[in-house]
Amino acid sequence: MRKPIIVGNWKMNKTIAEAVSFIKEVEQHVHDKADFGVATSFLALNESLKNASKLIVAAQNCHFETSGAFTGQVSVEMLEEVGCKYVIIGHSECREMFGDTDETVNKKAIKLLAKGLTPIFCIGESEAQFDAGATKDVIESQLTNGLKGISGDDVKKIVIAYEPIWAIGTGKSASVEVAENCCKVVRETVKKLYNEEVAQAVRIQYGGSVKPENIEEYMQQEDIDGALIGGASLKADSFISIIEKVK
Ligand code: PGA
Repeated sequence: MRKPIIVGNWKMNKTIAEAVSFIKEVEQHVHDKADFGVATSFLALNESLKNASKLIVAAQNCHFETSGAFTGQVSVEMLEEVGCKYVIIGHSECREMFGDTDETVNKKAIKLLAKGLTPIFCIGESEAQFDAGATKDVIESQLTNGLKGISGDDVKKIVIAYEPIWAIGTGKSASVEVAENCCKVVRETVKKLYNEEVAQAVRIQYGGSVKPENIEEYMQQEDIDGALIGGASLKADSFISIIEKVK
């Protein structure tokens, strides 16, 4: 049985004080039917981790090198030092704006797994690719290249977030059918690359305009094991309502 995992991706939002106050309020509502977490700014990670006992506190990115001349970057070792256990990698905003590629995402995943941290590994197609019917090809190539060199046992630990770019921050969420079909393609691709056991173990999130009003129908789908949530994770009320609907 795969335990669902719901993570709020705060992007460039929330000061340290705001993060801590959110965590204190929301923690009381966390239950054990699923894993729940928030991905804070690097700066808010430490305080957030200290104040969280039930919520996962994730980072939004990492570098694959241990140290060196990489201005503005944060290494996995630095995240490990503050007790961070989950890290989002390959988010479409990082792929589109900050130069992430399948190759760098692959290196980040390998480094995280080697250090015992869990990658939340984002993939997803653009609107033009969706319209051209290329979704399956995009998913297959992002997974084939992004998981290169990673063992099946390690892939079982990864959380894959399938996020169609056209649904992120647009309010235009993928229909339940589209989301489920695409998450199924993700699972089938993992099966092709590894085997049925690995495919059944890996947790797959859907992301893109998930909110309290639609979380339940996504969660009822066979291949959707959770959600990566941007906008609707920023307000405590909204995130609490999501937590309560995943019971
Ligand atoms: P959204 O963002 O929920 O605001 O669409 C999702 C994401 O970027 O992970």
